[in-house]
Amino acid sequence: MDPYKETIQTWDKLAERYEQMFMDMDIYHESYAAFCDALGAEEGRLLEIGCGPGNITQYLQKKVPTLQITATDVSPSMIERVNINVPSAEARVMDARDVGALQESFNAIVCGFIIPYLSAEDCTQMISACGRLIQKGGVCYLSFVPGNPKESGFVTGSTGDRSYFHYHAKDRVMEDLSKAYLEVFKTFEIIYKKANGVTEMHLVVLARRLEG
Ligand SMILES: C[S@@+](CC[C@H](N)C(=O)[O-])C[C@H]1O[C@@H](n2cnc3c(N)ncnc32)[C@H](O)[C@@H]1O
Repeated sequence: MDPYKETIQTWDKLAERYEQMFMDMDIYHESYAAFCDALGAEEGRLLEIGCGPGNITQYLQKKVPTLQITATDVSPSMIERVNINVPSAEARVMDARDVGALQESFNAIVCGFIIPYLSAEDCTQMISACGRLIQKGGVCYLSFVPGNPKESGFVTGSTGDRSYFHYHAKDRVMEDLSKAYLEVFKTFEIIYKKANGVTEMHLVVLARRLEG
């Protein structure tokens, strides 16, 4: 089966489980708060790509109630959770590979752990699209697990369901951002302990759209 198809099916099946585990996880809150500080403006339009059950959207909406959030995810079950968790957001089913087709512009874009589910080529295209969709001076939030792309492959979770996990080289992602006129101004290295006790480093990057 196509790795994307299986991965998307897995996420759709595990939406409620992900919500139970991650809706209130606070290890990323410092990075969300820094993103909110960088937003500056009280009002504005924000696009979230791969929003899951709305965990980041919920944090941002509470912190900046005037933000108009469009939360997108390829999984209809995740979008159902967003509608329940953050009714003020506009929640849409959308594949991150189709972001380039959007005809809207945003003051900010959030990409929380979506690129681990995109190939290097699709990641580059999505970041390039973000550079086009985000207004000059706007802010982008991107998180991922940097690593050796050769170690990418199917991972099987405790439910037995598989998803294809992509490691992206940090330098390549930084180059993608730079080519999209997104200038990195802050990074966070967050140590995450997985259920099996193994730790990994999660990188959060905050970038601002240059006048370009
Ligand atoms: C690890 S969760 C991240 C959720 C949330 N953004 C966060 O940071 O906690 C990954 C999300 O990406 C979504 N996803 C996977 N492949 C996708 C694709 N091709 N397009 C859009 N969303 C996708 C999954 O459905 C899931 O909700």
